[in-house]
Amino acid sequence: MPHKPFRYIFLLCLLQISIFSCQKKTEKKQYVIGFSQSGEADSWRKTMLDEMNRELLFHPELKMVYKETHDNVPVQIKQVNELLSQGIDVLIISATDATQLVPVVTKAYKSGIPVIVLDRNIASQNFTNHIGADNKQIGAIAGKYIANLLNGRGNILEITGQITSSPAIDRSTGFDSIVRLYPQLHITLKVQGDWLAQTAQARLKDIAPQLSNINAVFAHNDVMGNAASHLIDSIAHRKIPVIGVDALPGPDLGLEMVKTGRLTGSIIYPTGGKEAIRNAALLASNKKLPRQTVLKTALIDSTNVETLEMQLDKISSQQEDIEQQQQMIHTQQKIYKSQRTYIVVLGIFVGLLLLAASLLWYSRVVNKRINRALYKKNRDINSKNEQIKQMSLEAQETHEAKINFFTKISHEFRTPLSLIITPLEDILTNPKLSKELKTVMLMMKKNAYRLLQLVTQLMDFRKIEFGKFQLQVSQDDIVNFSKEVLQSFDSLARQRHIVTRVASASRAINCFFDAYIVEKILLNLLSNAFKFTPDGGDIWIQIEEDKTGNAIKFVVSDTGSGMDEESQKTLFSFFYNNEKRQKQSNGIGLHLVKELVLLHHGTVSIDSKLNEGTKVTFSIPLEYSYSPQEMFLRQDFVSGPDSAANNVYVSSLDVTPSIEGSGYLETVRPDHKRKTLLVVEDNEDLRNLLHRKLSETYDVVTAKDGKSAIKTLFELVPDIIICDIMLPDMDGLEITKRCKNDVKTSYIPIILLTARSSDQQYKEGLKNLANAYITKPFHFDVLIQTIENLLANSSLLKEHYTSLGNTHLQNQEHIAAVGGNNVKANRKFITDFVSIVEQNISNEQLDVQLICDMLHISRVQLYRKVKSLLKTNINEYILSARILKAKSYLLEGEYTVAEIAAKTGFSTSSYFSTVFKKMTGVSPSDFIGRKS
Ligand code: FRU
Repeated sequence: MPHKPFRYIFLLCLLQISIFSCQKKTEKKQYVIGFSQSGEADSWRKTMLDEMNRELLFHPELKMVYKETHDNVPVQIKQVNELLSQGIDVLIISATDATQLVPVVTKAYKSGIPVIVLDRNIASQNFTNHIGADNKQIGAIAGKYIANLLNGRGNILEITGQITSSPAIDRSTGFDSIVRLYPQLHITLKVQGDWLAQTAQARLKDIAPQLSNINAVFAHNDVMGNAASHLIDSIAHRKIPVIGVDALPGPDLGLEMVKTGRLTGSIIYPTGGKEAIRNAALLASNKKLPRQTVLKTALIDSTNVETLEMQLDKISSQQEDIEQQQQMIHTQQKIYKSQRTYIVVLGIFVGLLLLAASLLWYSRVVNKRINRALYKKNRDINSKNEQIKQMSLEAQETHEAKINFFTKISHEFRTPLSLIITPLEDILTNPKLSKELKTVMLMMKKNAYRLLQLVTQLMDFRKIEFGKFQLQVSQDDIVNFSKEVLQSFDSLARQRHIVTRVASASRAINCFFDAYIVEKILLNLLSNAFKFTPDGGDIWIQIEEDKTGNAIKFVVSDTGSGMDEESQKTLFSFFYNNEKRQKQSNGIGLHLVKELVLLHHGTVSIDSKLNEGTKVTFSIPLEYSYSPQEMFLRQDFVSGPDSAANNVYVSSLDVTPSIEGSGYLETVRPDHKRKTLLVVEDNEDLRNLLHRKLSETYDVVTAKDGKSAIKTLFELVPDIIICDIMLPDMDGLEITKRCKNDVKTSYIPIILLTARSSDQQYKEGLKNLANAYITKPFHFDVLIQTIENLLANSSLLKEHYTSLGNTHLQNQEHIAAVGGNNVKANRKFITDFVSIVEQNISNEQLDVQLICDMLHISRVQLYRKVKSLLKTNINEYILSARILKAKSYLLEGEYTVAEIAAKTGFSTSSYFSTVFKKMTGVSPSDFIGRKS
């Protein structure tokens, strides 16, 4: 099959070739006929040429080259030579001189060129064919005719043609042969007229006196006879018989001369033009011919001239018809030729088209075959891909299962660790503890924290690996932040006499960064630095904008043991472990650092010298376009001395807890009446521990699952709830939601307690209006302080509502009292409205429009609702809320007046002071004074 198209193409080529060959066949070979004409272009020779041209129309294969010699022998010889060198196929010659032309004609003949001698012959047999009438016979006819006219007696004038030419010689010979037969008949005068009327006339004039006794004239052609007739007529004034030769039809030619009596008779001498072309055509195509083509002759006189004329006229008209037909044929031939060309072009075009079509068809066949092969290959690849996918899916599932198991295990570590660390810390606070036991206990605590750190790192890994670690940047002072992180190593540094510092050219650099991630990076790097730096060494963090101005560069340096170049190459690899460092390093930290830096769109590198120290440089972008998901204003993020183990997030609704336990607790601690505290925790040990520890200060009720927690919540309505997020029947977020959505319990502060640390959960918790979020394990002090702060804040809120005269709770009650179908909706409105104001208290832009946008209601609706439900003006309410918050900050004593002004949404502290005084009657500073 693959050869089929080629066969097709081959056939097509054959077709094309045959079209061309056909064309060639129809176009016969062209032959060149060279014709050397002897004499002047007289009528007889013109007639000869006409006949030749007419005949040539029937022989398109012949092309004639015509040369005229004017009866000049040397010229004719030269011209024949030219024709021969031109490369003619046949030579036609009418020889001017019978003898002198012999050599050149012989030359042609011998060279193989067929030679046709037309009319005037040569004195040689070296020719192929001679055409002409028998001139001796013509002479004899003339002799007989004159003898008859003169009754065998009289004097004859013979006017000859050029005497060296064959017709003149033969005509004389023939004429003489007859005259001799009559003893009383004489050729008295013989004049050479050289075939020309003028020559004959001139020569006759020379012998004019001798003409008077002439009884008849025989002229070798009609034109010389006519000249003689005129002369004799004019000189001798008598008419004598004049016989000419040629008898050409046409005006003033032989036949008319006979008809008019100028000539007595004329002997037909055919030109042989037509025969010459016919014979040439035959000879050109190698046909044989007899040596002589004898043309017929006849005498014309007054008795038959008219008959002949009539016949000639008829012939002439037929000739014209033929010529016309010839012309038409010629035109048709032209049309045919152009059509043939068109057909050939069309044929070529069609051929090419077919060729293209067959190539196209062939390429389609090939393509189809390739496609089929490709399709098969694809199918194989796809099925292999499927297999690989399946395998990788299985591998991923196995991997994920392993990781999940690993994570779960790691996660499970945190609660038991809490139960180790919390009692340990409890015991360590006991002053009765012996020094030895305290040392052991401290070692236990240190290692418990170490375990905890490892667990946290492993969980971080897992989150990074599964892309669950979401970068969340907020704007803050990175220098101050770094100082705070470094501070968490203060006691360690003091113990080991290590000098620590944060070096920065700028006192503050405000930029966007993820505090959680940057803290983890710094903690890891610092903890490594502390591990490898000997006592008395230096550890410092250098912070600066890098040369490009596009990034913040951190260099964490130490004067520790350092490492060689080989070790540095693989330092950031997972589970990398330098043998020398193995004892102290867990092998995760630096890999985690690298992953965290990458997550923060940054770079990290290390430069270390053995026994000199190590510099780890990392940078995070300064002007990075963070995505909306990455932009997160993590409010009141608190890092403490052990923040890796103690992450406390408190919503903005609450007062920030002080880790150090300074001032505020004592300052704002409300009444010391024992509060009721609900602890929801499924781990029995932790539940019991919390119960035991918290019972010292509060009335503690416990619940081990969500269901019993909800029951207790509504029966007992505690003052505060501490709730684990992961419970067997429902999660802590659900309990928070239920609590906050019920008017009776919505004001109860909730602390969410969990082993899981994730921003997502933190956000979820805050969304559900949880008041604080503490990750396990935690410092018990921190928990106590958070409880106290929330209880104090709860009192402040109450004061706030009371001072406004339209407290949230009161309004809730008011709404409930008014009743109606909208009670639920109105409650929701009040809760939303109050929340927006509280959450945006530091926002200067907090106004009616912002609240409208957030509540998705119109200004008119907002005014109407606030007026009817809160019985107050919106702006007044916002201002009162700001002042109330400011009061709480002033009571806290942690911030300056300027800071409080900013935190409560006042553009300047002077404006804040003015408003504060106007609303409370005292200036902020006086308010602090009055408090103390
Ligand atoms: C023309 C002519 C004729 C004559 C013939 C002989 O040139 O003179 O009149 O018959 O030549 O060759």
